[in-house]
Amino acid sequence: MKLKVLVDNNTLIDRYFEGEPGVSYYIEEGDTRVLFDVGYSDLFIKNGEKMGVDFFNLDYLVLSHSHLDHTWGLEPYVKRLTEEVMEGRALHRSKLIAHPGVFDSRTFTGEDELGVTMDQDRLKKFFDFHLTEEAFWLTDRLAFLGEVPRLNDFESQSPIGRVLVAGVYQEDYNRDDSAMVYVSEEGLVIITGCSHAGICNIIERARAVTGIQKVRDVIGGFHLLNPPERVMDKTVEYFKNLGAPKIHPCHCTDLGAKIALARVVDLGEVGVAFEMAYR
Ligand SMILES: [Fe+2]
Repeated sequence: MKLKVLVDNNTLIDRYFEGEPGVSYYIEEGDTRVLFDVGYSDLFIKNGEKMGVDFFNLDYLVLSHSHLDHTWGLEPYVKRLTEEVMEGRALHRSKLIAHPGVFDSRTFTGEDELGVTMDQDRLKKFFDFHLTEEAFWLTDRLAFLGEVPRLNDFESQSPIGRVLVAGVYQEDYNRDDSAMVYVSEEGLVIITGCSHAGICNIIERARAVTGIQKVRDVIGGFHLLNPPERVMDKTVEYFKNLGAPKIHPCHCTDLGAKIALARVVDLGEVGVAFEMAYR
């Protein structure tokens, strides 16, 4: 499995790509090509094409959750695909994998939209939808985790805005938030978007879905932005016991959280164009 970071908040010295506060990863596993999240703008296309990614030949588009910094690249993506069709290229339809709640409207004030802004019917012209709360295996070794049970008592305790469900706004605990896992020869490699479900809950979900306990690496947003002391302490304790040889927190993991985690686990830097590979 090879993963390339197309979009992250961070950029790397001497690598001339741009960043934005969003997430997009390109993943190859055997012959299977996967786009995981599309960032906030068309930046994932600009960066990805410089890295040689062929966006017209993907098998899967996986969305970690609905938020704008992970899904607002959908509009430029569909525009780009439309341009290719107009140039006479036959459309290679890919499967869109996400939690069914990913298209629910989300807001802080009622006026702002935090979730997916694209019309589902328009998206269905390009993608075959597979929205599921269950885990979904893209290959023998690469899975979408589906809905993540909130098992512990310290993560995902406060809502982020409100979500419109059956015509009624309710506090949004991001039920749609999911992640991916790759079963490597050295243990699980967990790939997250924002971890609103909680990074520890997500790792436990990956263990339950795969039946494998050993964790090799975790890359993505950990949703640790000025967290309450108890959340940070419990998370550090969890990682101390996890035994992962290295982790790659990025995106929505702040400096204080990285410093705290680095006391108990080897922590690698992430930025646009960062690549990882596991057999
Ligand atoms: Fe995010």
